Amino acid sequence: MESKEISRAVIKRLPRYYRYLGELLESGVERISSNELSDRMQVTASQIRQDLNNFGGFGQQGYGYNVKHLHAEIGKILGLDKMYHMIIIGAGNLGQALANYAQFEKWGFKVTGIFDVNPVLRGVSVRNVPIRMVEELPEYLKENETHIAALTLPKEHAREMAELVVANGVKAIWNFAHTDLKLPDDVVVESVHLSESLMQLSYNMSNYKKTGKNHSKQKKSF
Ligand code: NAI
Repeated sequence: MESKEISRAVIKRLPRYYRYLGELLESGVERISSNELSDRMQVTASQIRQDLNNFGGFGQQGYGYNVKHLHAEIGKILGLDKMYHMIIIGAGNLGQALANYAQFEKWGFKVTGIFDVNPVLRGVSVRNVPIRMVEELPEYLKENETHIAALTLPKEHAREMAELVVANGVKAIWNFAHTDLKLPDDVVVESVHLSESLMQLSYNMSNYKKTGKNHSKQKKSF
């Protein structure tokens, strides 16, 4: 496939296409038109066609999209055709919830290590991965190839731990701590803030009360 610059807005939409196509695959659907996909995803058909044309137009006139092929191609674009090793730093409520979510592994993200400072957690296993103490982290990283570190610890310690894993070769941080990280240019950081999604819900609720328009339900260009 020809490689060209794709806008961030399109990239942001790809996981959603990937998820829907995965569901279609699981239910045995082999092909789908942009109109049918539009109905399911509540996105305009023209947006779907425009987005997917960015990748060389996987669809064929009169046939629609081959679900398996499109799913695989979007997976490749998202880098999901590989297996990543991910460690979790901070084995509290959120860290253990992430470690317990088996679906990540299906998408190619395998939790290979969990670290904390609380000695009470030493040796406790989450989905067969034992929680280790952070003192063991540098040694662990030398011996175990690790692609991603998820930070699910208090924000006061997030920078220090991010710097430690980066110093030991980790190039991608999935940051849940509410703090901005300043890391070298070759380190990729993705921060997640569930509170922003909740605020969006709150906005939609109050807007619905005022206007009677439900923005979460409208078919839209997302
Ligand atoms: P928690 O208190 O249940 O867990 C935090 C864990 O981090 C504890 O087990 C603690 O011993 C450990 N810890 C402390 N210092 C550490 C260090 N230097 N290295 C390794 N582990 C260390 O807290 P919870 O609810 O799991 O939240 C964790 C973090 O995630 C907090 O910063 C919280 O604000 C954030 N959070 C973010 C969300 C988001 O949407 N971005 C949603 C929920 C929580």
